[in-house]
Amino acid sequence: MNEQTLSMRLERVAAHVPAGARLADIGSDHGYLPVALLRRAAIVAAVAGEVALTPFQAALRTVHESGFGQQISVRLANGLAAIEAEDQITAISVCGMGGETIRDILDSGKSRLSGRERLILQPNGGEQPLRQWLMDNDYRILCEEVLRENRFNYEIIVAERSGPVLYTAEQLFFGPLQMQARSAAFLLKWQRMLIVKRRTLNNFAQARRAVPDEKLQELTRQIEWIAALLDGT
Ligand SMILES: C[S@@+](CC[C@H](N)C(=O)[O-])C[C@H]1O[C@@H](n2cnc3c(N)ncnc32)[C@H](O)[C@@H]1O
Repeated sequence: MNEQTLSMRLERVAAHVPAGARLADIGSDHGYLPVALLRRAAIVAAVAGEVALTPFQAALRTVHESGFGQQISVRLANGLAAIEAEDQITAISVCGMGGETIRDILDSGKSRLSGRERLILQPNGGEQPLRQWLMDNDYRILCEEVLRENRFNYEIIVAERSGPVLYTAEQLFFGPLQMQARSAAFLLKWQRMLIVKRRTLNNFAQARRAVPDEKLQELTRQIEWIAALLDGT
């Protein structure tokens, strides 16, 4: 992967960035996503935010070598602190981190959100707490994808603030749109998860140390949900 050839995962993220956007890519690492989008003239400007020095320097290098130094501002900052009102950001991507980390970045940076940006989120696990945050903050999920690359399942969640929205506990767990679409990748993900979760429950039953009841109940409930979802597939 580089700034010309994105991974399939970042390619799918790129597909959800609106044409002509002013993008803030938070946790940009090498800065591949904003540079690739500018090369394609798919966006007009970007901020590449990084909290860690080594990836920040890598992003600076990619942007410098690409010749897009005028259009892409690389900033060493924690989460949404990379965004200033003058940037007039219209889309924010936060990709390749745990869902809880993405949620925390959004929550602690709420004051930097105008509420008009499209959020393009690609959590590696922890999708449920991330969807909970979106619902709690009036974001409607517009699009969801599951994809498999290099033996990992990745999810992409696209959301915009729309006013109050209500999702059930199961919708927060599986994704409301994915539950409807039931794509092959989605069903395969949950077939694998069912095996893993049943194995974990089995291991708990054989464990010498007591597992908290709450944890057991939560796992049992998830197994029931997944089995019901896959029933008849
Ligand atoms: C696994 S990389 C993903 C890079 C790229 N977004 C992608 O999807 O390929 C995660 C990056 O997020 C950065 N990061 C983690 N927490 C952050 C935060 N609070 N603010 C900005 N960057 C953060 C890390 O330093 C790391 O470079």
